[in-house]
Amino acid sequence: MYKRDESGESNQQTSSISSAKILQLSRVKMENYEVTVYTTNCAFAATFNNVYIKLVGTEGESNRSWLFSIIGSLALFKGDVAHFTVSCPKSLGTLFLIELDKQDFLPFFQDSWYPSKVEVRSPEGDTYCFPVHRWITDREVNRFREGKAVKTFEEPNTLARYAREQELIGRKKDYCWEEWEKGLPHCIKGKSPLCLPPEVRFSYTKDTEFFWTAAIGQVELHLKGLEKRHEPWTDIDAVDRVFTYRTTDMSEYVQEQWQEDAFFAWQYLNGVNPIMIRCCEGLPENFPVTDDMVFFCQGSLKREMERGNIFLCDYKRLDGVKPNTINGKKQYLMAPLVLFHNRGGKFMPIAIQLKQTPAEDNPIFLPTDSAYDWLMAKIFVRSADFQEHQLNVHLLRTHLLAEVFAVSLLRNVPMVHPLYNLLVPHTRYTLQINILARLGLISEKGVFTQFAASGGEAMFTIMKRSLSSMTYKSLCIPDDIEERGVGNIPNYYYKDDGLRLWDIIFRFVEGVLSYYYKTDDLVVNDTELQDWIRDIFEHGFLSQEQTGIPQKFSTVAELIKFVTMVIFTCSCQHSAVNSGQYDYGAWMPNTPTSLQCPPPTTKGTKDHIMMQTLPNISTTVKGMSTMWLLSKDSSDFVPLGRYPEQYFSEGFPRKLIKRFQRELHKLSVSIKARNDNLKLPYTYLDPANFENSVAI
Ligand code: FE2
Repeated sequence: MYKRDESGESNQQTSSISSAKILQLSRVKMENYEVTVYTTNCAFAATFNNVYIKLVGTEGESNRSWLFSIIGSLALFKGDVAHFTVSCPKSLGTLFLIELDKQDFLPFFQDSWYPSKVEVRSPEGDTYCFPVHRWITDREVNRFREGKAVKTFEEPNTLARYAREQELIGRKKDYCWEEWEKGLPHCIKGKSPLCLPPEVRFSYTKDTEFFWTAAIGQVELHLKGLEKRHEPWTDIDAVDRVFTYRTTDMSEYVQEQWQEDAFFAWQYLNGVNPIMIRCCEGLPENFPVTDDMVFFCQGSLKREMERGNIFLCDYKRLDGVKPNTINGKKQYLMAPLVLFHNRGGKFMPIAIQLKQTPAEDNPIFLPTDSAYDWLMAKIFVRSADFQEHQLNVHLLRTHLLAEVFAVSLLRNVPMVHPLYNLLVPHTRYTLQINILARLGLISEKGVFTQFAASGGEAMFTIMKRSLSSMTYKSLCIPDDIEERGVGNIPNYYYKDDGLRLWDIIFRFVEGVLSYYYKTDDLVVNDTELQDWIRDIFEHGFLSQEQTGIPQKFSTVAELIKFVTMVIFTCSCQHSAVNSGQYDYGAWMPNTPTSLQCPPPTTKGTKDHIMMQTLPNISTTVKGMSTMWLLSKDSSDFVPLGRYPEQYFSEGFPRKLIKRFQRELHKLSVSIKARNDNLKLPYTYLDPANFENSVAI
C-alpha cells in the first residue's frame, strides 16, 4: 500500500535543502518543469497564502516546491496566469498527478483559493493539464489528476489508484444522501447552502442577483401593501397593475388571448407543460363524451379517434388530493379531463369534465355552452394544470432528478473519469437552488403553501404519486412523443425543437462515450459507472422497477441513451418547463395558482362568481413574484454546450465539443428564423436561451 504524508507542515521540512545537497545538485544537470497556474476569474478567488506544488510522474516525483514569484502574493490573483519553474535532478517520466497545498503567509491568515487549472510543460516538451476547479480552503495536501480521462481499471500504478480512492472517500463525506420526504427522491444532505462545498455553491454574482431579485419583489409588494390583502379582486384589470413594469411580450399576449380556445389549446403544445397531452384511442369510461356533444352529427368521435385526431389530458393524479387552506380559507383543486380535436391542423378543446367521477353535478362542459360556463371550466383546468406542472413536470421531473444525477455523480465518479468531465457542467448550481427551494418554497410553510391549492400536504401526495408513475420512456423525448402518440400534431414546437435537440445531444454523447468505451465489456467492468447508475436507481427512483430506469449498464448504447437523457433533462427539459412561468403566469386568470370556490355543478348559472373564485390579492401577488424570480436568468448564465471550465484535455472530445456547439448554433439560427414567421414564437428550446444545468 502506498503511504502518503498528508501533512503540509512536515512536507515543508523536506523542501529545505541542506548545503551539501545543494552542492551535490549543482553538479548534476537539472530538469526544469515550467508550471503555469490559472486562478479562476471570480470574486475572492485569489490567495495571499504560500502555495506549494509537487509533481508526480511514472518515474518519480519532484520535491514539494514553493510557487515563489517576484510579484509575491499578487501572482495568484483572480483571473491571472502565473508562471513558475520546478527543477528536478531527473525526468519524472509521464506526469499523472500534482499535489497542491497552501500555507498561511501570516499566522492565522488562511484564505481560500480557487485555481481553475495547472499546466506543466516537461523538459521533453510535453504539456500536461491538471484541471482543478475546486476551492482550496485548508492547509491539507490536495491531489489533482492529469486531465486525460482514465477509467478505474486503467490506472497506471498504486499511487494513482490511491488518489482516486481518496478523492471518492472525501466526496462521499461532502455529498451525503438524505431522505427529504418518504416516497420522494433522496436529496443532498444539508440544511443550508453553506453546508455545500464552495465549488458547487452559487457564484458571488449569482448569489447577489438572486437575492436582490427576491428582495426587490418582496419590498415592492410590501410598499404597495398587497401581500396582506386577503380580499378577492373586484376588477380583473387591477391584476395588470401589480407589477406594471414587469411585462413580457408573451405575458401581454396572454392577457389579450387567455379566454380564446385556440390559445387554451396552444398552451398544451407550447406552454410550460407540453408533456401532458396524449392521443386518445378510446375514451376513458369515466369521461362519457358523446358525438352529439361534440360533433352535432357532422362527424363521429370514434372515426376521429381512429384517424388520430382526438387528444386527451387527464389530471387523474390530482383526484382525491386534500386541497390546501390559505389564510383560513379552504381552497379547491380539481382533477379534470379535457378532450381536444385536431381539425385539419387547428387544435381546439371540445369537452371538459372537472371531476373524475361522472355525475349529474359534474357536467361535461362544451364550447357551445354559455361563454361564462365554458370559461369557468377552462379556469379550473388551468389551475389544475398549474399544480401538475409545478410539482410533477417542473419540480420532480427536472429539479429533483437533476439533483439525484448530480449527487450520484459527485459521490461515485472521480474527476479523472470521462463521465465526470462530460456531466459535471450539467450539475452547476443545482444543489444550491434545490436546497433554497426546500428551505423557502416547498417547505411545510414555504411560499408555495401560501399561494398554491396544492401547497402543504397535497404537495407531497402529488409528487409521490408522480414518482410512482414516472417512466424512463417518458424522460426520453423520442420515446415520450411516440408513446403519447403526438408525433403528427402540427405546430407542436416543443416536440419539433426538443427532438432536434435530443439528436444533437445524442450525437455528442455518442461521440464522447464511444471514444472511451470501445466495447460493451468496458462499460460492464467500469465499477464507478455501475455505482453511479445504481445510486440513481436506488436513491432517485427508490428501486421501483416499474419505472424502467436502468439498474446497471450492460452496453455502450444503454449508457449513451441514459447520459443523453440526463443532459436533456438538466438543460432542455428544464428550460421548456421553467422559462415560460412568468410569461404564462403573469396574467393570473390564465394560471390561477389556487381557487377559492367550488367548481360549477350545473350549467347556465346566473350567479357569476368568477372574481370570488380566482385567487385573492395576496395569493395572486405571492404567486406572481415567485414566478418572476424563478424565470430570471443570472448574468453568469452558461448556455447549453458552452464549457468554460474545459474539463476534457484530450483533443478528440474537445473537437466533439466544437461540433456540438456548431450544431447547437445552427439549430438556434433555424429556430429564430422559424419564430420570425410566427405570430407566437416558441423560444424556450432555442439553445442560445437556456443553461447547461438546472440553475433556477
Ligand atoms: Fe426551475
